[in-house]
Amino acid sequence: MRFDTVIRHGTVVTASDRFISDVGIKDGRIAALAAELTDADETIDATGLLVLPGGIDSHVHLDQPSGDGIVMADDFDSGTRSAAVGGNTTVLSFCMQEKGQSLREALKVYHAKAAGKCHVDVSFHMVVTDPTPEVLGQELPALVESGYTSIKVFMTYEGLRLRDDEILATLDTARRTGALVMVHCENEDAIRYLVGRHEQEGKLAPKYHASTRPVAAEREATHRALSLAEIVDVPIVIVHVSNREAMEEIRRARQRGQKIAGETCPQYLMLTADDLDQEELDGAKFVCSPPPRDKPSQDACWEGLEQGVFDLFSSDHCPFRFNDPEGKLNEKGKRNFRWIPNGIPGVATRLPILFSEGVMKGRIDINRFVALTSTNHAKLYGLYPQKGTIAIGSDADIALWDPDKQVTLTNELLHHGADYTPYEGLEVRGWPVRLLLRGKTIVENGDLANRDMAGSYLSRGLSSLAANSTFR
Ligand code: URP
Ligand code: ZN
Ligand code: ZN
Repeated sequence: MRFDTVIRHGTVVTASDRFISDVGIKDGRIAALAAELTDADETIDATGLLVLPGGIDSHVHLDQPSGDGIVMADDFDSGTRSAAVGGNTTVLSFCMQEKGQSLREALKVYHAKAAGKCHVDVSFHMVVTDPTPEVLGQELPALVESGYTSIKVFMTYEGLRLRDDEILATLDTARRTGALVMVHCENEDAIRYLVGRHEQEGKLAPKYHASTRPVAAEREATHRALSLAEIVDVPIVIVHVSNREAMEEIRRARQRGQKIAGETCPQYLMLTADDLDQEELDGAKFVCSPPPRDKPSQDACWEGLEQGVFDLFSSDHCPFRFNDPEGKLNEKGKRNFRWIPNGIPGVATRLPILFSEGVMKGRIDINRFVALTSTNHAKLYGLYPQKGTIAIGSDADIALWDPDKQVTLTNELLHHGADYTPYEGLEVRGWPVRLLLRGKTIVENGDLANRDMAGSYLSRGLSSLAANSTFR
């Protein structure tokens, strides 16, 4: 066979294997894994490089409305550009239902936002904020059938949160249809009470974001979400876990026999609540929910990654500009933490941070790195084996990693729309030096190789967790 592209002499790594092989690519797919493949239009020398499945970031917020006068820093163009620069070939972003809006109307809006603007492949989780009988009884089942196979529900944020009976009804629909539900676990009533008390006491600086969203509020909601899922008997994903107590809730639910996936994020390994306690409102740069905690919580999140409590390592990229009246330092946000938009940028830094801090420091092996950043996302969200591995027939979504390249993270390197990175100055070892999406090079020398907007929308199958019991 004559190939379009051959990647030569690299070390191929999947979630289970590591071997030296050439990779032959034809029509956007992997067509051969063998030694000495030569007959190709283009040859890429990968000597000394790791040949990994492109990263899949299954928790990314792009171009979402975020409150009056607040504008998210990334649309689908800048957000997927940043994703690509950081070694990702697929992102799963959110389609947010407004109250009173049908899911189909919401999808129309998000497809229009994304159309012709994506540098990597994209799919949507449906955020259900208005679970009417029509939405749950008719719309969702039809949408799951047509490839929208995951849902997110919130237990916090006024206007977004669902009551327990609404969560149960949504979980019931998920059980009937095979959809996978992601749950944001924080107790809204407790948080609202604490915010009120802080306001009465004049505690308004960014650091109080953390003290109004304590571990107990996350642990309680995590336990409640797991209990609701147990009552309905349906798998769920607990997203962005920040601490030991919530992590142990997942471990215990699994021991009871529940099918649960757990996710953590770079901010819970690298940041603490002390980062929110800074001069000149700089703490606003680190405001996200759940908030970063403390060193023992970081250690617990590492333990969860090492021991398999967490299946997913995602960015929860949710970028706002810092020094901007439409961002973190909006007029109200400067005066009171409750108006600082929640979320931090991280789609470009997720893979280098886990590679450097996890693989290079001996906490996880390279196969676990691939599982946590690519393969498990594909399996859990219905994209496997089209995505998430290096195998004959899979899309040729490939990140070539230089494991020895040392990089100092700076905002300029990341090509996102935010004016800061929470990781400015962090030294990392290991970097994606070239990225192929369906066989075409889309990133080289730290930037896009062209302006092709090569990303496509992905319709997805059912989750491995929902469809059968063989994932774990
Ligand atoms: O602070 C965060 N995480 N913002 C993004 C929205 C969410 O809850 O995932
Ligand atoms: Zn969330
Ligand atoms: Zn999120």
